[in-house]
Amino acid sequence: MKLLAPSILSADFSNLEREIRYVELAGADIIHCDVMDGKFVPNITFGPLVVSAVNKITELPLDVHLMIENPELHIDAFIKAGADYITVHQEEVIHLDRTLNMIKELGAKAGVAINPATPVETLGEILHFADLILVMSVNPGFGGQKFLDYTLSKIKKLNDLKIEKGYNFLIEVDGGINKQTIQKASDAGCNIFVAGSSIFSSDNVSAATTELKNLITQN
Ligand code: DX5
Ligand code: ZN
Repeated sequence: MKLLAPSILSADFSNLEREIRYVELAGADIIHCDVMDGKFVPNITFGPLVVSAVNKITELPLDVHLMIENPELHIDAFIKAGADYITVHQEEVIHLDRTLNMIKELGAKAGVAINPATPVETLGEILHFADLILVMSVNPGFGGQKFLDYTLSKIKKLNDLKIEKGYNFLIEVDGGINKQTIQKASDAGCNIFVAGSSIFSSDNVSAATTELKNLITQN
């Protein structure tokens, strides 16, 4: 399964409905929402209020990436706001088993993100019940950064483990995805491709979306 998830981080927030409509009509599968608190990452974005507004704009599933401290305190609010996937960071969550189960019990799909410097091995014991593993291909906090090639081997490792052990999680990549890098991530076994600036900072949001979508569906 290959799905395109535009990240609204780089969208024009004064025209969010129009921006989302562009990507929706051009083949986006999921809307990726980057939540940042100025603590876990240096940047601040938005909370459940904006996720709830996005949920009113689109029927597409919402993939909420929590780059915040103590995410477990806010999971319920984001699910009530309409999140279909909730992804927390391995580096932040001490009781990962408890937190993933909490997400599932509240009715969303449970994801875990790992920063570029965090090894796949730190997830060994939760891979059998996680719904999604997000491999950060940039250091989280900002859009428009360069794709870190060495993270491809982590996607490959996760895909090999999936095949070997029969796990069900989807593999997502986030950061620096454009028409050059998307192919490499796809070849490594990735399922969900987050793209922010290569879509929303382009001259033609619809065309950029369709182009990326075609690259993954042809593969
Ligand atoms: C970065 C965010 C990403 C960001 C990606 O911390 O998690 O989702 O929007 O932006 P690009 O695609 O511009 O690297
Ligand atoms: Zn993200």
